[in-house]
Amino acid sequence: MKRNILLCLSLAAVWNFACQSGHNTTQEQKSDTVTLDSTAFTSDINGKTVTLYTLKNEQGMTVYLTNFGARIVGLHVPNKEGIPTDVVLGFTKASAYHNPEEPYFGTIVGPFGNRIAKGTFSLGENTYKLPQNNGVNTLHGGFEGVHFAIWEATTITPRAITFAYTLPDEKEGFPGNIAMEVTYSILPDNKLQIDYKAHTDKETIINLTNHAYFNLNGEGSGTILNHELQLFADHYTPVDSTLIPTGELASVQGSPFDFTATKTIGQDIEAENTQLQYGKGYDHNFVLNGTRLNDLNHAARIKGEQSGIIMDIFTQEPGIQFYSGNFMADKVTLKNGKTDSFRTGFCLEPQNFPDAPNQPNFPSSRLKPGEIYKTKSVYAFSVQ
Ligand code: BGC
Repeated sequence: MKRNILLCLSLAAVWNFACQSGHNTTQEQKSDTVTLDSTAFTSDINGKTVTLYTLKNEQGMTVYLTNFGARIVGLHVPNKEGIPTDVVLGFTKASAYHNPEEPYFGTIVGPFGNRIAKGTFSLGENTYKLPQNNGVNTLHGGFEGVHFAIWEATTITPRAITFAYTLPDEKEGFPGNIAMEVTYSILPDNKLQIDYKAHTDKETIINLTNHAYFNLNGEGSGTILNHELQLFADHYTPVDSTLIPTGELASVQGSPFDFTATKTIGQDIEAENTQLQYGKGYDHNFVLNGTRLNDLNHAARIKGEQSGIIMDIFTQEPGIQFYSGNFMADKVTLKNGKTDSFRTGFCLEPQNFPDAPNQPNFPSSRLKPGEIYKTKSVYAFSVQ
């Protein structure tokens, strides 16, 4: 194992390539954690090669990425016993990601992540129509948002990889050739940083985030309801029955949405509450304390009660969507052979507020030619 890492690292130093994972060891499989095989993973999708990239540090963190949707395929960190644990849900083969029923595992969503009411928005005199792929609304960039794009891996080092993709003008109804870049960097102390950048040649809207489903006890290890969550948010944005924000910033105090002090995800999830009924659980944007001007606000801290793995999320974004896996329904088979059962994964997506293009009181999501959209989020892993 060590030899393989060393070999990969020295090859990487010579050719400036990331290690393409091809090794399979028994040592790493003490838990249900699967060491991915890049040969088995790789496929041709829409005439282009979709492959696997691996970033590693010396403290036991391994991040598997693919150019299909610029996704996280797996993320291994040591649990409290030091056993590598895969905390991101995904698949062993690229082709499994090409599933219109369940398209968002680990992916970048955009150009506008989350919902846009009734699939329409205006910029100045122009009104744009988008595909309505979620009831009457647009979700995560429409049917063919950036999640099904084959991104180009433009910079590859052992510690960082940049994926680039330009969404052509009018694709899925969004104006402008929107050039996007997403860089995943693995930092010391088991931190994963995601940097997002974009520019456009026509005024447009933008809201990029990563849509990883996490289970900090390990992929396929059962419900996330006993995970202990803290959100640094005194307010959230209540929604209508189609999960579009009403525009109000409501206090979380005294409601099931109060995660200002640590509690389990499950503690109040079944409470009698219209908002929880609309989301079938938590599926809401939380308004982060602190502002966009401050670098990297602490957004969330969450612990897997069995593994002891803690994930802290820091972001420059104003909001974080907390989705408790309410629509997961045993539709797909994950890396370790388990299915995606109800609430066995959660998403915490740092982002601008849903439907921002139609809500004058929300932070702006406009991007004009000549401007650069730049934002980052950091996921820091530790154990307790
Ligand atoms: C949304 C959920 C949606 C899920 C799809 C989340 O970002 O908030 O409503 O079902 O994405 O994976």
